[in-house]
Parts: sequence; C-alpha cells; structure tokens
Amino acid sequence: SNDEFKFKVVLLGEGAVGKSSLMLRYVQGNFNPRHISTIQASFLSKQLVVDGADIDLSIWDTAGQEKYHALGPIYYRGSHGALLVYDVTDAKSFDKVKMWVKELRRALGDDVVLFIVGNKVDLADSRTVETEMATQFATSVGATYEETSAKENIGVENLFELMCSAMVSR
Ligand code: GTP
Ligand code: MG
Repeated sequence: SNDEFKFKVVLLGEGAVGKSSLMLRYVQGNFNPRHISTIQASFLSKQLVVDGADIDLSIWDTAGQEKYHALGPIYYRGSHGALLVYDVTDAKSFDKVKMWVKELRRALGDDVVLFIVGNKVDLADSRTVETEMATQFATSVGATYEETSAKENIGVENLFELMCSAMVSR
C-alpha cells in the first residue's frame, strides 16, 4: 500500500531506567554501559514498514531526573504513543510508571497507545518487579506490557514494531 504514517512516540520514566539506551539500541544498534543523563530531551527518527504500512517514526527521549519532570508535557504533547519504562530491578521506578499512566491518560485521553516496558531483564538475579504483577497492572490501565534488555538486545526491535502496529490499527 502507499499509506504513509507519521507517528510520534515519547519515552518516559525515572532516571537511569534505560530510556536513552532503548532508543539508541533501536535506532543506532549500539549500547553504552555508562549512564549519561539526558538533559531535557533528545530526538531520533526511523523509517520502518509494519503490516505493509510505511512508517516515519519520531522518537522523543526525555530526561528522567525529577528536576525535569515539569517539562514532560512539552515532549508528550501530540504523541500517538508512549513507552513508559522502568527497571525490573528497581520497584521505585515502577511506581513512577503508575504516575505517568495517570498523567498521560488525563492529558492525552484514551487514544494514546501506552506500552509499559520492563527494561534490564538481563539482570535476572536482581529482579524485584515480577512479570505477572506488571502485566496485570498494564491490562488494568489499557496498556501493553513488554520486557526488554537494551544491553543484550532482547525485545527491543519487537517493542517498537508492536508499538507501530498498535498505532496503525488505532
Ligand atoms: P536519564 O537520561 O537520566 O533519564 O536515564 P535513562 O533512562 O536514559 O538511562 P540510560 O539509557 O542512560 O541508562 C542508564 C544506565 O543503565 C546506563 O549505565 C546503561 O548502560 C544502563 N542500562 C540501560 N539499559 C540496560 C539494560 O538493559 N541492562 C543493563 N544491565 N543495563 C542497562
Ligand atoms: Mg536518558
């Protein structure tokens, strides 16, 4: 088909959960073991084909540090989808996801496609947030739950493709 979709997706979540790492793994295919805190936000785009549709995807990576929280609306405004990322070894970062769900539903309504992403699944021995609990929470708020490792490249391409597929069928 000749359909071309322009989609905007925003990455939100606590500092150091791996938002930038997911974007860089997906778009550039690499991983940096060092944490370089994002300042305000950054942006990359990627072209892909999902379900026969050409997609021009804009990915907005936001800063997780609390001092930047108030900037959120600048970056999530107009988003078709949001990836709410937490670190499976950090229960506090999951609480932050719950807060983002409330804020996004209030600000963007029911049409925004929400994915909750448990990152760092390579750190299985240190996991504190169980898959089952996260899945149940996601279902209860109309979101999709996926797990990833930006480090080991687990589930990352699948995550962005599922997100695009969900936005196409919206
Ligand atoms: P802010 O920009 O401060 O909000 O952080 P962020 O969410 O963008 O985190 P970032 O991608 O910078 O990653 C934080 C740290 O976690 C870095 O040291 C990464 O190398 C590491 N990291 C990211 N993803 C993974 C992962 O899947 N597994 C492991 N083991 N480490 C990861
Ligand atoms: Mg970052």
